[in-house]
Amino acid sequence: KWRGAALAGGMGLLAACERGPQSALHPAGRNAEAILDLTLILVAGGGVIFLFVMALAGYAVIARPERFPGSRAWIIGGGLVFPIVTLTALQVYEFAVARQLSDTGGVEPLRIEVTGYMWWWEVRYPDVRVEGGEVLRIANRLVIPAGRPVEVVVTAADVIHSFWVPSLGGKMDMIPGHENRLILVGERSGTYRGQCAEYCGAQHALMAFDVVVEPPDRFEEWLAAERRPAAEPAGPQQAAGRDAFLRAGCGSCHTVRGTSANGAAGPDLTHVGGRDALAAGTLPNTPEALAGWIAGAQHIKPENRMPSFPILGGDDLHAIAVWLESLK
Ligand code: CUA
Repeated sequence: KWRGAALAGGMGLLAACERGPQSALHPAGRNAEAILDLTLILVAGGGVIFLFVMALAGYAVIARPERFPGSRAWIIGGGLVFPIVTLTALQVYEFAVARQLSDTGGVEPLRIEVTGYMWWWEVRYPDVRVEGGEVLRIANRLVIPAGRPVEVVVTAADVIHSFWVPSLGGKMDMIPGHENRLILVGERSGTYRGQCAEYCGAQHALMAFDVVVEPPDRFEEWLAAERRPAAEPAGPQQAAGRDAFLRAGCGSCHTVRGTSANGAAGPDLTHVGGRDALAAGTLPNTPEALAGWIAGAQHIKPENRMPSFPILGGDDLHAIAVWLESLK
């Protein structure tokens, strides 16, 4: 396709990082594709104009013409007609692309609400109720069905953040007290990385999330599993972990549905073991990393709102990590 040719020709360096879960150059849906086309046309057009202007400037410097041949025509043509025609055409094209990006093609979109916090993402499915009747609430991860447009309503709880999944769609600012919307479309199944794209404090760089695009039937299975409360502990170690978690007061900030933990200040941990990463893309999701996070969250991600718990004994710490990781 011409896109491939443009990439190979004009953006050889960038092509090296074209692949990967967070690349605007490797779209996985039609909205990201439209944005890539727009980008390539603007870059290519800008490149042609730049080269032309440099050639004229070079001619003026090297040849030092007494009088530039046909200068009046150049001034009117190059200084007025060309920019007015070109910029108007580009503007019309850009408006058309922007319209296309917010068009769901008559399909009822899946609604997801995402709130930015320093420095994690709360994700709510307002039309999905968990067992018990509340709205489904997860963290740092969106799971969406392939092919169906998703309307993401974004806002922020503290400072301005920005929601961006380059492989799936455009970027949208998250502003406290205000709701913005964007449409994501995932057509290829896979896991794509999103990243906060507006500087929001010390840990801005460690504010990432995953978007998992699943075939529609797998998505329904995931929803059904996610709506269930946390499983009962499978053994004595998991039970000890749950008790230690509740004793340490973790439930005043975190919810684990099916236990007495019902805090709302931090991420919902009901199915935390099923996520790909911990602490908004900061750590791999393993019992060892989770134990390290609980003991030293302030060392790993200074100034985040999760305190370090160095006073937890090794056994308790390990048991809590094992229990939480069993919640898939
Ligand atoms: Cu949130 Cu940068």
